[in-house]
Amino acid sequence: MTPKSATEQSWTPSSWRTRSVVQQPAWPDQEALDAVLSEISALPPLVFAGEARTLTESLALASEGKAFLLHAGDCAESFEAFSANSIRDKLKIILQMSVVLTYGAGVPTIKVGRIAGQFAKPRSSDTETRDGTTLPSFRGDMVNDFAFTPDARIPNPQRLLRGYHQSSSTLNLWRAFTKGGFADLSRVHSWNQEFVTASPQGRQYEALANEIDRALRFMNACGIDLNHEMAFHQVDAYTSHEALLLGYEEALTRQDSLTGDWYDCSAHMLWIGDRTRHLDGAHVEFLAGVNNPIAIKLGPTSEVDDVIALCDRLDPQHSPGRLTLITRMGADLVAERLPPLLEKVGQSGHPVLWVCDPMHGNTFAHSSGYKTRNFDDVMAELREFFAACANSGVRPGGMHIELTGEDVTECLGGTEEVLGDHLENRYETMCDPRLNARQSLDLAFQVAELLRA
Ligand code: PEP
Ligand code: CO
Repeated sequence: MTPKSATEQSWTPSSWRTRSVVQQPAWPDQEALDAVLSEISALPPLVFAGEARTLTESLALASEGKAFLLHAGDCAESFEAFSANSIRDKLKIILQMSVVLTYGAGVPTIKVGRIAGQFAKPRSSDTETRDGTTLPSFRGDMVNDFAFTPDARIPNPQRLLRGYHQSSSTLNLWRAFTKGGFADLSRVHSWNQEFVTASPQGRQYEALANEIDRALRFMNACGIDLNHEMAFHQVDAYTSHEALLLGYEEALTRQDSLTGDWYDCSAHMLWIGDRTRHLDGAHVEFLAGVNNPIAIKLGPTSEVDDVIALCDRLDPQHSPGRLTLITRMGADLVAERLPPLLEKVGQSGHPVLWVCDPMHGNTFAHSSGYKTRNFDDVMAELREFFAACANSGVRPGGMHIELTGEDVTECLGGTEEVLGDHLENRYETMCDPRLNARQSLDLAFQVAELLRA
C-alpha cells in the first residue's frame, strides 16, 4: 500500500531533488558522485520489501502495547572498527537486553539495530576548528575521514560504495547470527546470569534474573523443548539508519516486484533526524514516498503543529506501524515538552509509535574535553517518558539507545561506575558517546522494572 501523500502524484525516488536539502556534504566532484550513485543503483538491494512489511506489522503491534521496540547501536559505524567480533558483540548485547525487556514488558521485543548503513552524520556546524585550524566537519565514514587533516576531510564518493559493501557484509553476518543458533534463548539467558553473578553490582538484578530462570525451567517442565523449538533459536533482527545522504538512499530505492510499491532497500527502517525534519524539505519528501516503516526524531524545539503536519504528510492513511516518533528532549525538558505532543498527536488520530531516545538530549562536554552522557540522566529521561505516557494514556512503545558491545568508557556512571578520569581509557566512538555493554544491561534491567510497574 503506497502512502498517499499530498504530493503523491509527483513523487518519484528523485523528487526530493526539487526541494531544499540540508546537511549534505559539499562533494567536490559532481561527476564522480553521479558515477558512484549510478553504480550503486545497479547493485542488489540490501533488504527485501517483504521484511520491511513484516517489521511494519510488528511496530503496529507495539503501538497497541503488544510489543516493545529496542532500537540500538552505534552513533556512527566505522570503516576501521569493522570486524566480525564487533558485529557479534553488538548483537549479543541487544539480545541480552531483549530477553530482560521481554520478561519485564511481558510482550515480544522488536530488535532493530542502528547497523549495516549507519555511516552518515548530520552536524551542528559545517566546520570544526582545532588549535586555530578550521576544516570541514567529519560527516561519517561514508563521506569523509575522521582524521583532522585537509585531505582526510574532503568528501569522497568512493566512500559511499565502501559503505554499501560494508553494510552488505555486516548484514550477512547479522542474519547468520540471528538465524544460525547464536541467538539461542538459553544461551542468551546464561550470558545474563553471568553478568548478574560476576560482580556485587550485578547482583542487584539477581531477583529478576532468577525469575527468568524459573520461567524457562517452567516451560521445560511443561514439555516445551527449549533446545528444539525454532522460536527459541532464531530471532528477527532488523537494520536501520538515518536516511541522510539522499543520493545514496535514492540509488537503493526499488520498486517491489510483488506489490509495485517503492521501498528504500538500504535498510528495513529509516529515520529523519532532528535537524532534517522540515515539512517542505527534501528528507521529508523522500521518505513520504517509500513504504518502509519510518521514524522522526523530535528534539525539544518540536512544535505540536509541525509534528502533526509531519504525521499528516508521512502517514496520511493513519497506518499503524508506518510512523514512529522518537523523542529526545533531555532529562530536564522531557516532562515539559513531551506531554503536549502525546496529547495533541493522540487527538489527531495518528496511530504513531512513541519511542524514547534518552541519549541525544543528554550530551554534554566533560571538563576533560570529552563529549559524554551520564547514565543517571539517561535513566531519568526514560523514567519521565514512561510517566508522561502513563499520564496521557499512551503506550510507551520502545527505546532508542546508542551502545556498543565493547567495554568502552564513553558515558559516565552505571553500576560499575565510569568516572570522569576513566573517559580517556577507552573513548573510541566516531561521534556520540555510547553506553558500554555493562551500562546497557544495567539499563535493560532497570527499564524492565519500570515496564513491570
Ligand atoms: C543520532 O541519532 O545520532 C542523531 C544525530 O540524532 P538526532 O537527529 O536526534 O540529533
Ligand atoms: Co548520535
